[in-house]
Amino acid sequence: MSDVGNAGIKQNEGSLTVAPALKKCDARLTDPDFDRFSKLVYDHCGIKLPSHKRSKLGARLRKRLRAHPLASFEEYAELIFSRDEPTQELIKLIDVVTTNKTDFFREPAHFDYLIQSALPFLIETFGAGINKPLNIWSAGCSTGKEPYNLAMVFKEFQLDRPDFRFDILGTDICTGVLEKFVQGIYAEVKAAPIPEKLKKKYLLRSKDPENRMVRIVPELRSLARFRRLNFMDDNFGFREPFDIIFCRNVIIYFDRPTQERLLSKLVDNLESGRYIFLGHSETLLGLNLPLKQVAPSVYRKI
Ligand SMILES: C[S@@+](CC[C@H](N)C(=O)[O-])C[C@H]1O[C@@H](n2cnc3c(N)ncnc32)[C@H](O)[C@@H]1O
Repeated sequence: MSDVGNAGIKQNEGSLTVAPALKKCDARLTDPDFDRFSKLVYDHCGIKLPSHKRSKLGARLRKRLRAHPLASFEEYAELIFSRDEPTQELIKLIDVVTTNKTDFFREPAHFDYLIQSALPFLIETFGAGINKPLNIWSAGCSTGKEPYNLAMVFKEFQLDRPDFRFDILGTDICTGVLEKFVQGIYAEVKAAPIPEKLKKKYLLRSKDPENRMVRIVPELRSLARFRRLNFMDDNFGFREPFDIIFCRNVIIYFDRPTQERLLSKLVDNLESGRYIFLGHSETLLGLNLPLKQVAPSVYRKI
């Protein structure tokens, strides 16, 4: 697996790090503090925090105050805003404000469409996955359930098409979730949506009955690469366009102009005739993009 630059993620085989207990902190986030920090979050990663999210932002930022420890948001602002360069602390701040909810087989119809329609079409029309490995990007991959899920269904697809090959890249801005991605360890209850047959093949179970965890098998872990990537960057630096982009439940956190900018960058990184999957509550309505809808929240580049 790759490294994430200065974000400092290390592969930590088999063990989970437990954060030390933190002291209580009752610093109050005032309206001017909220304006300042929410603007910083918006400018840096595009996430729009409406004013009714003030108490939520306060609660999340207090985690950072406790971690230092600092007594007030003023001191924290000093730490964040006194440097011109993005600091390690900005990375940690972004970590606590991102919403990382994800699941295995989330929006399962997408996986059916992928196997029954998209892959046969890509293979037949372009020889994709046969002439060279199919190139898939899970954009905003959170803790890795989505890219590992893709790896499972592609491995199953290979049973009928042994000549099919694929490369999966997962990216996220949040370093905390990328650490979990690398470990590939999840609470066993989170594996409930995975069909039993796939659980047997692709998951290892912990032996401790008090702490029921599963781990993605090494073969699958080695198939999914990861990278820290901020959607707000001008250039993502990919050498090859993708055949499939999953960018699900990500753009809902952005305002319309930011959504449009991001989607057009995703389209730039998608090969013609190839697929992009969005979340079911996300719509391209009113956006001028060279995409044609082929199934609910599935689009093909024209
Ligand atoms: C709700 S999760 C979606 C996870 C997965 N795609 C799914 O549908 O289950 C959204 C992810 O987008 C990431 N994200 C938010 N803003 C981002 C940005 N500017 N650049 C990269 N990733 C971002 C968050 O860190 C989070 O992990």
